[in-house]
Amino acid sequence: MPVTDGVSALTRDVIRLGHPILRKVAEPVPVQWFSSEKLKKLADELVATMHSEDGAGLAAPQIAESWRVLVYWVPETEDADAIGPLVLVNPELRPVGSHQEDGWEGCLSLPGLRGLVPRYTRVKVKARLVNGEQISMTADGFHARVLQHEADHLDGIVYLDRMTSPASLCYEEEWEKFILREDDLD
Ligand code: NI
Repeated sequence: MPVTDGVSALTRDVIRLGHPILRKVAEPVPVQWFSSEKLKKLADELVATMHSEDGAGLAAPQIAESWRVLVYWVPETEDADAIGPLVLVNPELRPVGSHQEDGWEGCLSLPGLRGLVPRYTRVKVKARLVNGEQISMTADGFHARVLQHEADHLDGIVYLDRMTSPASLCYEEEWEKFILREDDLD
């Protein structure tokens, strides 16, 4: 996406694994913050930074803001419209059923790496929007995966912690060369 001055002014540095904030449990956003300039700015910074880093999602702790706020987007598929970018505040996730599936994940805070991570295939999420409106929805597949990955950041958890085995960890270049090619991704 072209970077305009408006966007670049909002982009923040993404902190990497080793920065202590990534391992902290983030604080819930207080009720008085809804619709405030402070929360709107944080939301705009998350969206701008996610886009400029070409990510599918970003959680506030990744820009060194230890608050329970995340953003993500899901591209259009054959069966569903694109979602987002959607900013969720104080999200609460609950798996629907116990079915999990392995899928490849990367993270802007662990640049250049990929790992195979089991996630629930369906989750129910309750959250607030920046204006305080309460929403709830059920997410499936990739949508459910992104939500679980980003919500984990709010609890100081990164995808490495969820991997069944570290043996699948690989660099992006090698992943593209040896693994992506063999998958039935389109
Ligand atoms: Ni991440």
